[in-house]
Amino acid sequence: MQVLILYESFFGNTEKIAHAIADAIEGAEEVTVREISTVDPETMQMPDLLIVGSPTRGFRPSPATMDFISRVPESRMLDQMFAAFDTRIALSYIKSGVLRFIVKTGGYAASAIEKKLRQKGGVPIVASDGFCVIDKEGPLLKGEVERARKWASAIRAFHTA
Ligand SMILES: Cc1cc2nc3c(=O)[nH]c(=O)nc-3n(C[C@H](O)[C@H](O)[C@H](O)COP(=O)(O)O)c2cc1C
Repeated sequence: MQVLILYESFFGNTEKIAHAIADAIEGAEEVTVREISTVDPETMQMPDLLIVGSPTRGFRPSPATMDFISRVPESRMLDQMFAAFDTRIALSYIKSGVLRFIVKTGGYAASAIEKKLRQKGGVPIVASDGFCVIDKEGPLLKGEVERARKWASAIRAFHTA
């Protein structure tokens, strides 16, 4: 079973989560981790399971992630198993109540990725999830790498079931 994990990362946090997920799946699966802009969605070899991770930027996925999901042909996504994750600011670390409300209600990258890949015929195998940083550049909130590993374990369980 081939798993391809694609990510974009400006400060290294999403990359760290992508590798934690890969480590947790590794062993049961053949896992490749790639920076998303290095992959051409129109010609890439589709894996058995595609995992897409992005930092949340302005309530949505990052530019290279948006580019990938808008360009991947429906014919390639049809019945393609996938999972989506993001990184995002921990609400408890946003001091302003107004800003906290805006960030909370504005939306996150993972749900947008899930929605768009679903619209193209993809099949999410687990609920998308987000992993928190404590400031724009990180670091990741304590325990998030472990939580990402657990999220990946659900994916692994799905495959080996
Ligand atoms: C321009 C910009 C916009 C951002 N917008 C959001 C946002 O809408 N919601 C949120 O939770 N975090 C937001 N963040 C925080 C990012 O999610 C955070 O920088 C990211 O998780 C770090 O991951 P990376 O190191 O992989 O780039 C934003 C950060 C930047 C720099």
